[in-house]
Amino acid sequence: MSSFKPLVFSGVQPTGNLHLGNYLGAIKKFVALQETSECIYCVVDLHSLTAQLVHQDLAEQTRSITAAFLASGIDPMKHIVFNQSRVMQHAELAWIFNCVARIGWMNRMTQFKDKAGKDRENASLGLLAYPSLMAADILVYRATHVPVGEDQKQHLELTRDIAQKFNNDFSPRIADLGVGVEMRIGEETVHGFFPLTEPVIGGPAARIMSLRDGSKKMSKSDPSDLSRINLTDDADTISKKIRKAKTDPAALPSEADGLEGRPEAENLVGIYAGLADVTAEAVLKEFGGRQFSEFKPALADLAVEKLAPIAGEMRRISADQAYVDAVLRDGGERAGAKAEATMKTVREIIGLLGN
Ligand code: AMP
Ligand code: TRP
Repeated sequence: MSSFKPLVFSGVQPTGNLHLGNYLGAIKKFVALQETSECIYCVVDLHSLTAQLVHQDLAEQTRSITAAFLASGIDPMKHIVFNQSRVMQHAELAWIFNCVARIGWMNRMTQFKDKAGKDRENASLGLLAYPSLMAADILVYRATHVPVGEDQKQHLELTRDIAQKFNNDFSPRIADLGVGVEMRIGEETVHGFFPLTEPVIGGPAARIMSLRDGSKKMSKSDPSDLSRINLTDDADTISKKIRKAKTDPAALPSEADGLEGRPEAENLVGIYAGLADVTAEAVLKEFGGRQFSEFKPALADLAVEKLAPIAGEMRRISADQAYVDAVLRDGGERAGAKAEATMKTVREIIGLLGN
């Protein structure tokens, strides 16, 4: 019995500008994982319909996220970059997972509760089923690792629940067809068709907070542009936003314990650590005892040094729409072949006559 081959998958929605939270929490990890694993990175355009069906610039946004991937250093030749809707097997598997997952599982998702707000009855059915499509994105490639920010942890636990229920419900068929793969779950060794995917979350930048309020996540939807650093911001804007970032009057502590109860300070230290690729402890070792009046200019210089080249590359790549479209088309073809191979077996396991 073989084991699952390591494969990385992740997705980003084409809604609004990418910001520093997306970059440090997700995209920077995408880039690093290319060195060690085969990777598939997807612009999840179907997911963006769940909150709002009509977008006047969906195609433009899809290209812009693609340009951000490429500008950050994702290599579309060695790995795969594509947009979700091109590979219809995602939607096919999502339908099957809608029938595996239970409504109760979906109702418990905090992202659904936040996004649906008070008027849940009026949220789209797609918003409720969102995690089922996300599980399909990952499992249609039988991906083993998913780099994301902290906010996606619950969705990845649900992805494992779906994989496990499918594996259990169909275990006789999976065994008959000989398509199971061996996996360790705790002490046990089990067989299944879908892997129990591991999240890749963590480091000092798994949850970047708003620059205006250390208790709120940095987000595309915050009405204040000063709350976030966009990947397209120029050097002056980046510096201005860091200068205006909310802080407290105390100096930086020398140990991580000293950041407790100081969310804004903790956030800026986390951003520095994420950009410099060091731990928060290392940042405090260097800056402990110093005032924000000294730390902020150092942080602004570092942010400009790391982010301005990406913004420049994004502009250059975005100007060549034919190139971006060709990357997505080619990536879609390669992803589609892999997804179809999985779906052939899934149809066989279930007994759907489509092959
Ligand atoms: P989204 O823009 O919501 O599709 O998010 C794309 C990726 O960025 C996901 O992996 C998120 O978990 C991650 N992400 C979004 N906001 C933040 C944040 N404030 N801090 C860290 N990661 C984030
Ligand atoms: N839900 C993710 C987000 O909002 C986007 C996403 C969709 C995703 N499908 C995925 C992330 C598959 C990782 C893997 O950020």
